[in-house]
Formats: sequence, C-alpha cells, structure tokens
Amino acid sequence: MTSLDSVLVTGGAGFVGSHAVEYYADRGVEVTALDNLSRVETLETADDSRNTAAYNWEYIREEYPSVELVEADVRDEDRLETIVEGHDGIVHTAGQVAVTASLEDPRTDFEVNAEGTFNVLEAARAAESDPAVVMASTNKVYGDNVNEIPVREEETRYWYDDPEYEDGVPETLSIDDCEHTPYGVSKLAGDLYVQDYADRGVVEAAAFRMSCIYGPRQFGNEDQGWVAHFAISALRDEPLTIFGDGKQVRDVLYVDDLIRAYDAFLSDPDGKPAIYNVGGGPHNTTSLVEFLDALESVVGNRPDVAFDDWREGDQKVYVSDVSRACNELDWSPDVDFEEGIERFVDWWESR
Ligand SMILES: NC(=O)c1ccc[n+]([C@@H]2O[C@H](COP(=O)([O-])OP(=O)(O)OC[C@H]3O[C@@H](n4cnc5c(N)ncnc54)[C@H](O)[C@@H]3O)[C@@H](O)[C@H]2O)c1
Repeated sequence: MTSLDSVLVTGGAGFVGSHAVEYYADRGVEVTALDNLSRVETLETADDSRNTAAYNWEYIREEYPSVELVEADVRDEDRLETIVEGHDGIVHTAGQVAVTASLEDPRTDFEVNAEGTFNVLEAARAAESDPAVVMASTNKVYGDNVNEIPVREEETRYWYDDPEYEDGVPETLSIDDCEHTPYGVSKLAGDLYVQDYADRGVVEAAAFRMSCIYGPRQFGNEDQGWVAHFAISALRDEPLTIFGDGKQVRDVLYVDDLIRAYDAFLSDPDGKPAIYNVGGGPHNTTSLVEFLDALESVVGNRPDVAFDDWREGDQKVYVSDVSRACNELDWSPDVDFEEGIERFVDWWESR
C-alpha cells in the first residue's frame, strides 16, 4: 500500500501513465495528470481510432473527477517546476515512445526523452516537497548488446543459448561498444541522469528499464505496443504485418504489476538501487507467432499475417532478469499472460 499523499504522473493520458493515475486515485492519493496529448501526432500509425491520449483523458475525467488534468509539455521547464511543487512522488512516463519515430525525427526524440527527463529531475530538485521520482526507461538502452547473447532457433521461438542468461538480462549488461537507436540513446541519457541524481543524493529516483508492458486502454499500433496491436487486429479482423520471422521472444508484464513495482520504490526509496530491469521475466514470455495461437484461443480469430524484413534495432530475444526488482522491492509479477489478455479483450469488448 502506498505511503504517498500527492503524486504527479507525467504522460498521464498515456497507457502506462493512466494506470498509474488510476492506481493512486483508487488509494485516495491526490493525483495530477500531465500530458501534452501528442501521441497521435507523433506516431503515424496511431490514427484517431487508436488515440490513447484522447480516450484516457476522457476516461480519467469521467471516472476520477478529483484528478487534476493539466495539459502541459515536459519540455517547458518553467511550467514543469510550478506543477511539480507540492507533490511527494512523480511517475515520469511522458515520452517519445517509438524507435521508428526516433529515426525519422531524432531531435524531437532527444528533446522529449533526454531533456524532458532532465527537466523532471531539475523540477524535483527545486521542489520544497522533495518528490521521489520513477522514470519509465526501456530495455532498448542496452542497444545491440542484447543481440550478442547467443540464441538458438526452436520451432516457434528463439531462446537464449547461454546458461548465464537463463534468468534473462541483468542490469549489468554493458551499454557500450554496440549499435544503438536514437530512441535507445535518448532514453539512456535520461536514465543516466536519474542514476546520477540518485547517486549524489540530489533526488531519490529510479529508472525502470521496461520490457513489454500490456493491458487495457493500450491502443498499440505498428510502431509501439505490439501485444495490444495484435489483439486489436484480431478483434477487428484486420490484417497485420510481422517484421522478421515472428520467432522473436519478449517477456510480457501486465501493467498493474508494473505500477506496483513503481509504488514499491516511491513509497520507500531510501537506500534502494536506482536501476531496475522490469518485465514479466523468464516465466512470462511469448514469441509473436506463439501469441497468435494464444489470441486465437481467446478471441476465436486469427488475423491475416504478412511477413516483412526485420526492423532496425529489433531484438531476437529480450527477457528481463527481474531478480533485483523482486529482491529490492519485495515485488513479483502477479497476472499471468493468459489472464492479462482476457482482461484486455474484456475491456475492448466492454467499450
Ligand atoms: N509500453 C511499453 O511496453 C513500454 C516499454 C518500454 C518503455 N516504455 C516507456 O514508458 C512510457 C509510457 O509508454 P506508454 O506505452 O504508456 O506510451 P503512451 O504513448 O501511451 O504514453 C506516453 C504519453 O506521453 C505523452 N507525451 C509525449 N510527449 C510528451 C511531452 N513532451 N510532454 C508531455 N507529455 C508527452 C503522450 O501524449 C502520451 O500520452 C514511455 O516513456 C515509453 O518510452 C513503454
């Protein structure tokens, strides 16, 4: 149970952010949700029928009228400083979220992710209310080093072929001497500032290097949020494209489980590490083609699939080693994948 009184969620209209808003509002915490409602403009494939921000903003307005909704940009440092004051926790999820968009427009990606995170930390440093900060980082900070881990090809998936990684990728994997993407670099810059501010005791802060998060109110599309994208395609009976051979594997984490991990840090940050790999871990994994089978059994439908070339920066296998998060935060994933997908489908059908 949270110990916070007042929380600011940046990216509060987003998928992850809106669940953080809901988590704290349900527990009687005062919540401010900040968002610039930009997702649809920046992701070409997030058309109006998959407008996460508009949907979630309305959802919060209706379900949680006590939540303060603030349309603002994390790039606006002066305004951010004013908004942050008075909160004792910040969940920083606002971000440019897609590798594809970062390749098209690396400057915006940098300004939103690197500078935006820096602005949040600086605002927290200036605030008299001394907020602790969690930042939504990403496994993409490890760049192509994750593809240096030997994998073997099995019938429906790739899997690690080195026993050292049987629990997944730990926080100690090198971030150096490999290819990156602008998204990976802008996130890593923010993530390093988080570590620096935390290590010097300037702000109590942690970066959560997230794997694949999924759940209700996620309007995934071809650029980002593939679990929801696949599920929506099956539910709408729309064709989809798989980039690569579909045997790529991800660990998947239900969004409520992620928010519990954030809160475990924010409620008691003292002396805790500043970096966590967080995802479903080795016991909650799926390949893309395996997921199509699972979807068919839940939805009763299988979308038409076309295959295309691998995309830049894609990983054959990424599984988070969640031991540190489990040990330090006294946390573990609760919702298994099948149940999580059923909850997603229930939400979709109840809209
Ligand atoms: N969903 C995942 O699987 C996943 C995995 C790894 C990392 N992440 C990170 O988690 C965070 C949340 O992801 P999500 O899936 O909820 O994405 P999302 O697009 O649903 O949410 C991001 C929100 O940030 C807002 N935003 C963008 N730029 C902004 C700005 N300059 N100022 C204020 N608001 C801004 C968007 O309008 C959007 O509502 C992101 O930072 C993303 O990089 C997500």
